[in-house]
Amino acid sequence: MNELIDQFRAMYRRDPEIIVHAPGRVNLIGEHVDYNDGPVLPAAINKEVTLIAAATADATLSLHALDLDQKISLTLEKLEQKTSTDGTPIPKWAYYPAGVAWALQQAGLSTKGADVIYTSDVPIGAGLSSSAAVEVAFGLLWSQLGGWHIERLDLAQICQRAENKYVGVSSGLMDQFASACGVEGHALYFDTRTLFWEPTPLPDNISIIIADSGVRRSLSDSAYNQRREACEQAVKLLQQYKPGISSLRDISSTEFMALSPYLPDEVRHRAEHVVKEIARVESARNALHSADIKIFGALMYASHISLRDLYEVSTTELDTLVEIAREIPGCFGARLTGAGFGGCTVNIVDQDFVKVFVRELTSGYKQLTGRAANVYECLPSKGVWVEETGL
Ligand code: GLA
Repeated sequence: MNELIDQFRAMYRRDPEIIVHAPGRVNLIGEHVDYNDGPVLPAAINKEVTLIAAATADATLSLHALDLDQKISLTLEKLEQKTSTDGTPIPKWAYYPAGVAWALQQAGLSTKGADVIYTSDVPIGAGLSSSAAVEVAFGLLWSQLGGWHIERLDLAQICQRAENKYVGVSSGLMDQFASACGVEGHALYFDTRTLFWEPTPLPDNISIIIADSGVRRSLSDSAYNQRREACEQAVKLLQQYKPGISSLRDISSTEFMALSPYLPDEVRHRAEHVVKEIARVESARNALHSADIKIFGALMYASHISLRDLYEVSTTELDTLVEIAREIPGCFGARLTGAGFGGCTVNIVDQDFVKVFVRELTSGYKQLTGRAANVYECLPSKGVWVEETGL
């Protein structure tokens, strides 16, 4: 941390005033349902964005993204233009902080000028919500600098708006929610329709293992948006048979199976994933409440197969990771996590088998794909926080 403070001083020739941390997340189950009013079960993780900042007297936001080794300045008074102070278009990475400032302003909240440096150990494009962590960190930064307070969930919604309207990805609320509301040692059951949420303890004897396939998401924004459109189309078509529904959350699995012959193939596959995944999350929540980790794991495998075959967001590498994992003793469940199209799998593993699991998954993956997987345990962590340093 001292090193980061020194970097801040070297860059801005002044002392920082505040340090904010915001975690990435892993989703245990409930994939591609958060934009269909469905429930999800993510956890914030011990990989995070760290941001160091001090307020400025004017409306200039100076950003230094340490990991990219890039800097820009922009004025917070002309965010719509998406240009930096020298008139050039701002780079994509700066859309996230700029978008949060824009969304806060839309909500009538103040965004003070600031000098900021930030770094992150949440891998980019790996399905662990690196961008939501940046958004939420900046959201809390502005609340601290402006002396205003809003609920964590409201902050998450503002950050989602930044992503939807400023960055241009029609994502749901899960990632920003998990980064804002994480609870140490717990998964989070979150109903994206009612916004009810509760921390759900995980059994003591299991570990959450992330396996990074090393393949980064590509073309994901457009493919993601297309998935969302297919779901909307399914709702429109199904309304002819069940008027009054407003999302796929309103259709039970049984009703869906009766009505599915009326849908065109692709739309039917996408919708079937969503309807059944929503039911799986409810079963997974019950399984956690009764500490039945075998059932929980079986639901994870089923979720992966559905994402592979019906939603078509998996990759050969992710499928390979899941197939190897299920043969390793002590593994209860495995599936891709996040949007897909590359990135990571999440695995629930008996604590006594973690070492063996990491070793076998890494070597098996290397053997079958020639690629190096990064396999590691992650800990469910607390949501965005301000470091009390006495700065
Ligand atoms: C991305 C989005 C989330 C969610 C997942 C898929 O992470 O940001 O809102 O839709 O994909 O479950």
